[in-house]
Amino acid sequence: MHTISRRQFLALSSATVMASMFPLSLRAQSTLRPLPIPRVIDMTASSEATVNLILRESNHHFGEGLSGTTFGINGTYLGPLIRLKNAQAVNLNVKNLLAESTTLHWHGLHVPGEVDGGPQQMIAPNTTWRPTLEIKQRASFNWYHAHPCGKTAEHVYKGLAGPLIVEDSDSLATDLPHTYGVDDFVIVLQDKMFDDQGKMSYQLTEEMLLEGFAGNTLLVNGVLSGVSAQTPRGWIRLRTLNASNARSIGIALANQAPLWVIASDGGFLSQPVEVAGLAIHAGERYEVLLDGTNTTTLDLLSVLEIEEGPEAEETEPEEDETDFADLMGTGGVGLPSKLLIRFIQDPLLPVASSAHLPQRLIHLPPADTSTALRQRNFVLNMNLGAAPHQLQGTHQQSMGINGKAFDMTRIDEQIKRQEMEVWRFTSEDEVHPMHIHGTSFRILRVNGAPPPEYMQGWKDTVVVDDGGATEVLVSFPHLANHRFPYMYHCHLLEHEDMGMMGQFTVSN
Ligand code: C2O
Ligand code: CU
Ligand code: CU
Repeated sequence: MHTISRRQFLALSSATVMASMFPLSLRAQSTLRPLPIPRVIDMTASSEATVNLILRESNHHFGEGLSGTTFGINGTYLGPLIRLKNAQAVNLNVKNLLAESTTLHWHGLHVPGEVDGGPQQMIAPNTTWRPTLEIKQRASFNWYHAHPCGKTAEHVYKGLAGPLIVEDSDSLATDLPHTYGVDDFVIVLQDKMFDDQGKMSYQLTEEMLLEGFAGNTLLVNGVLSGVSAQTPRGWIRLRTLNASNARSIGIALANQAPLWVIASDGGFLSQPVEVAGLAIHAGERYEVLLDGTNTTTLDLLSVLEIEEGPEAEETEPEEDETDFADLMGTGGVGLPSKLLIRFIQDPLLPVASSAHLPQRLIHLPPADTSTALRQRNFVLNMNLGAAPHQLQGTHQQSMGINGKAFDMTRIDEQIKRQEMEVWRFTSEDEVHPMHIHGTSFRILRVNGAPPPEYMQGWKDTVVVDDGGATEVLVSFPHLANHRFPYMYHCHLLEHEDMGMMGQFTVSN
């Protein structure tokens, strides 16, 4: 059974504590805004497709008088849902109308390094980047976001991110809820800091330089939570993305009914997995089904707090761990948690999908380590010398991997295409959601034990526990040359920007 350390819980808990100290958030519960449904660019019907994305500075209203200067993609904040299909070629025109350079990376897509959108592929102001993406992968819920060297955290925070669905013939043929915005929702979760004027701010405290940014307000699809959505009777499908800079977010239902996990980052699980609650780390995606067949209202909560206050940390031993699922199951009622989304059944809406839970989803072969040709070890370093606050704004980096801070001129690993490998990430300190570009992998072990069932499918981002180790089985289907290598990095974006990233080539 997977456990989550006290530190992870405390990381979760501080959001609610801070949110409740913040007067503007208190008004959030009084009226429920409608859940925004991201505009969709749907290319699943065409064999060849063109998608135009325009990046520009804007001003966005988050609800309750909260606003900010933002970076939007075809809008004021975040980008449209891009819906693509396996075996499709997509031409993208990414036009940068910002006053500064940035990049756009396709997080979760299996595409060659040349079109991956990493820090080498800067798009200068007033220019257009035109990659062609050949989609060759399973149905999966992915995302795209800015990835400029040293400024990823700031650019994503300002809004350069959006959801991206890959469908395939299996996913299009299933019985799963699939009417977008009706019983099939894209849910982008993020935390933000608003000052007492209600303006979005990004000020890193010394603590945030170490632990990653922590905001005082939780957003759903770019507006302040909680929100509400009208649904037909039946099952509801949520494709959830944690696009926060650093925050881990737990979700659970107020009526203590289970969540049924059907997919992780890179595709479907073999069958729905029942959980009492789900922790989603920065960069991760999970698809869940909610049972709305016998209830008229479903309240999805953000579970961000545990019984112990932050003081408990010093007095409790480090190895004291609490099981996340158990804690959410048994303590759910008493825990202060916040309403994220209220799903309200509208009897006039036709039931959109068949009202049963599928027994099986896809054939998921067991992760077979016997095919692994080698193991690579990555030690995640929080401190390579200078203290982070001494480096802020100096373009130096104090975090790293295997003793080295990220350097765009250095290739850290050279990998052969299609060769199976074990990658072992070890945390010296703190929790790190590690991400690998260009592929999906399988988790072999978390702190020496097999991962819980819902983490046994295809992933591209995985948590490495405080002082713990996570091993994954990985291979790369495409090439990445030394000019456009792939990246592996911590998805706490402040850690990434401070140097906890490496790059690698894939060759034949
Ligand atoms: Cu989602 Cu290298 O990033
Ligand atoms: Cu990525
Ligand atoms: Cu990290």
